[in-house]
Amino acid sequence: MKIGILGDIHGNIEALKTAYQTAVEEGVERIYHLGDLGGYAPFVNEVAEFLIEKNIEGVQGNYDEAIAYDKTHCGCKYEDDFQAKMAQLSFDWTKRAVNEKTKNYMKNLPFSISLQVEERKIKIFHATPIKNNLYWYEEREEKFYLLMAQKAEAEIMIYGHTHIPYFKKIKDFYFINAGSVGKPKDGDPRTCICIVDIKRKDVNVSFIRKSYDVKKVANAIIESGLPEYFAERLILAK
Ligand SMILES: [Fe+2]
Repeated sequence: MKIGILGDIHGNIEALKTAYQTAVEEGVERIYHLGDLGGYAPFVNEVAEFLIEKNIEGVQGNYDEAIAYDKTHCGCKYEDDFQAKMAQLSFDWTKRAVNEKTKNYMKNLPFSISLQVEERKIKIFHATPIKNNLYWYEEREEKFYLLMAQKAEAEIMIYGHTHIPYFKKIKDFYFINAGSVGKPKDGDPRTCICIVDIKRKDVNVSFIRKSYDVKKVANAIIESGLPEYFAERLILAK
């Protein structure tokens, strides 16, 4: 069975449409999203509407949780004060922009989804199986991976949050960071779609990158009143 994964969309409806279309063309039988539907780009309501309309199940990201529960901070981490200031502007902007339907949708997203696909147990979550705002980069030590596998009680773990895709197999555990649909941070501005193909016990993981109109979204960011900084970061994929 082929499963399509849509990681951190972050208000980018153009990237989402392209990613979704690509997954459909790849012949996926199911599609899931990994949460963090708003922030940094203006189309948070359009993204939620699209996911509802296409009946795409998914999990709650730290950003969704913070928006849904009117928190004062998105729970993200920053490298410096400037970044923190920009991120706060984006968070406050998004809080003002969300409608009730989007907020309710975010509120009702589960922390994780457990699946049995063919002969494999899968767990889908936003960042880690214990916390939705912990950054699980590829460089983490092997013991961290194995601890997370133990917490997840699954053989295949699918998550995002860092916006940098990777796939790692340790022992008989599969760790898949699906990257980000709407805000990649690996230097490649194209949208990222993760495909997990499971046949009996065999697991194949691929990441497809597809171009979309990044400039259109960058212009929309500037026009919306969000910091221009996020338009630049989108183009640079940083
Ligand atoms: Fe996140």
